[in-house]
Amino acid sequence: MILVTGGTGLVGAHLLYKLTTENEKIRAIYRAQESLDKVKEIFSFYTSEITQHFSKIEWIKADITDIPSMIPVFIGIKKVYHCAALVSFNPKDYREMRKVNIHGTAIVVNLAIDAKIDKLCFVGSIAAVGNAINGEIITEENEWNDEDDNHGYAITKFGAEMEVWRASQEGINVVIVNPGVILGSGFWNTGSSKLFTQIYNGFKFYTEGITGFIGVKDVVKAMTLLMNSEVKNERFILVSENKSFKDIFFSIADAFGKKRPSQKINPWQTALFWRVAWLISLITRKEPLLTKHSAKSAHGVSYYSAEKIKKALNFNFEKIENVIKRVVKNYPL
Ligand SMILES: NC(=O)c1ccc[n+]([C@@H]2O[C@H](COP(=O)([O-])OP(=O)(O)OC[C@H]3O[C@@H](n4cnc5c(N)ncnc54)[C@H](OP(=O)(O)O)[C@@H]3O)[C@@H](O)[C@H]2O)c1
Repeated sequence: MILVTGGTGLVGAHLLYKLTTENEKIRAIYRAQESLDKVKEIFSFYTSEITQHFSKIEWIKADITDIPSMIPVFIGIKKVYHCAALVSFNPKDYREMRKVNIHGTAIVVNLAIDAKIDKLCFVGSIAAVGNAINGEIITEENEWNDEDDNHGYAITKFGAEMEVWRASQEGINVVIVNPGVILGSGFWNTGSSKLFTQIYNGFKFYTEGITGFIGVKDVVKAMTLLMNSEVKNERFILVSENKSFKDIFFSIADAFGKKRPSQKINPWQTALFWRVAWLISLITRKEPLLTKHSAKSAHGVSYYSAEKIKKALNFNFEKIENVIKRVVKNYPL
């Protein structure tokens, strides 16, 4: 039986749909009843037979940071896809991210070892791969450096990976994927999908920072291929293309038939803006619109290589332009 954590999130829900088209039994965890409707919405992008697919999943209410709730979840499990995480650039979420991403992964790992599972697939992030040296292209070999100005999310995703490597030392076969920014349908008001909503609503600004992007269908394809392969104890960067935020924003606006963002924002402007946003958040107690590290990421220039997965699995990525067109088609107008 397969276990999916984070099945009520972007990656996990798309993964669950794919798994329901295959024959193995599936178990997934959830925390709130409402989040199950979001999974059904994701299934609706693939099929009209939503209930038929959804009913193939055994749902157990559990939290990865709560050991007693997780113990029954592992009964009879042979494969685990660990997608659950807290994703945030807000420094105030750092403690919670340590708890969910590092401690939660340690619990998943300990229970996986105890259950003697066959294989664990962990969704990491390019944020947990070491930075470029002299602007060179980043590969899986780039070393993490504690001395870099790493943001809380990156630190906790790196810490989570360390827990997964511990599982490999305890005899569990593991594969880690490190995706770039994931573009996919659904969850329109959270995470990376919020980009589509912002551009649809006429977001005016863009930066020329560059990073790696990938469609969610490719993330899921790589995860399942790796899980069903002989590959073990390896990590793989998953990036279809390295693109500027400007190009991505323009492509999304074009696909919606909306006006392209017109105002280029320079690093000094974001540096000023995140400080103002921080002050406002102190007064209003609301989430800041921008944080120091999200401002920095908007201007950072990083190129990632996905040669390793291409060679290992003969993997072909979908062009980002096509991913964007499909996501825009699914957007609820
Ligand atoms: N989106 C991206 O651009 C991106 C890029 C690179 C890597 N990643 C990684 O990909 C993975 C999935 O990301 P995503 O975009 O799908 O995130 P998401 O949409 O925010 O989903 C996060 C999932 O984790 C679950 N979760 C959070 N805390 C939990 C806890 N304490 N116990 C159990 N479940 C918990 C959430 O459950 P609830 O529904 O109950 O909140 C949700 O199912 C993460 O590991 C993330 O770090 C994402």
